[in-house]
Amino acid sequence: MTASLDAFLGSQCGSDAQGQRLADTIRHLSAAAVKVRNTIIEGGTGTDLGGKREATNAGGDVQKELDVLADRVFEEAARASGIAFFGSEEQDAPIPMAAEGDLAIAIDPLDGSSNIDTNVSIGTIFSILPVEDAHRAEPKSVFMQPGHRQKAAGFFIYGPQLLLVLTVGNGTHVFLFSPKFGGFVEMTASVAIAEKTQEFAINASNYRHWDRQMRSYIDDCLAGEEGPREKNFNMRWIGSLVADCYRILTRGGVFLYPGDQRKGYAKGRLRLVYEANPVAMVVEQAGGSATDGVTRILDLVPDDLHARTGLVFGSKREVERVGRYMVDPS
Ligand code: AHG
Ligand code: MN
Ligand code: MN
Ligand code: MN
Repeated sequence: MTASLDAFLGSQCGSDAQGQRLADTIRHLSAAAVKVRNTIIEGGTGTDLGGKREATNAGGDVQKELDVLADRVFEEAARASGIAFFGSEEQDAPIPMAAEGDLAIAIDPLDGSSNIDTNVSIGTIFSILPVEDAHRAEPKSVFMQPGHRQKAAGFFIYGPQLLLVLTVGNGTHVFLFSPKFGGFVEMTASVAIAEKTQEFAINASNYRHWDRQMRSYIDDCLAGEEGPREKNFNMRWIGSLVADCYRILTRGGVFLYPGDQRKGYAKGRLRLVYEANPVAMVVEQAGGSATDGVTRILDLVPDDLHARTGLVFGSKREVERVGRYMVDPS
């Protein structure tokens, strides 16, 4: 009998009050994801959803229609879940919600916005954090917790399939939305990322902006067997973090978005609290690694909801090898 998401949440989130609230929150997020998926399918991926709005978000990204629509749908789901604070890529400040809530959500409502018009897989990334009484006085502080304190994390992919990749701290699981079944059913009970890989993912157009160590690592990947690497490498770059991450979960690989010399990119493009942290928890729970090139992502302490970080994740041995290049003084 294929396990439903509902059954999984009932057995994996704990029977205590916070565990039940965690389960209920993930149920609400899943229902919100189905709404977003239906909007994409019904609205098509024409310019209406990928249309640019006047506004930019706190990170300076131009907001697309679907960014804002998805943000509203997930904010509503958070409110219905009794969440205490809602921190979103698309809103400058955290939104206080239930005064007595003991969970917070950090979210990237629509990841891969540059792909909305191209019918390429996009997604939603979420991180669920505990809320202590000390946080209530200063809502921003709830999103300055290191990622190892996350209670749950995951992402939805709006692609040929609507998938939920989820961890509640006991392995990484994949659920498929099945209209026939009328909900999410477990497709992969426990993802295991291959320890080694011959496939890297990076936006190579930034080569001239990287530091010497990153260029050296990529040069060696490109040199393949003619260089110091024992195998030839392949490259993939989708430009939707959720899609690149899911490929790595399924067949291994290493993803790199380093800091570079462009203005505002010293710490790269990706955001620590609602992109790197949830991805890092999912990847680690699947036996992989996630660092900023050197330091474990889940040990970093964010100084802001929208803090950026370099991000390297995937096959454990390869992430370790990248780390050796990053600290190589030669
Ligand atoms: P978002 O659409 O939420 O702003 O995230 C886009 C991110 C991530 O999905 C992807 O890995 C990365 O931006 C791609 O960056 P480049 O366009 O610089 O390659
Ligand atoms: Mn964005
Ligand atoms: Mn994103
Ligand atoms: Mn986004």
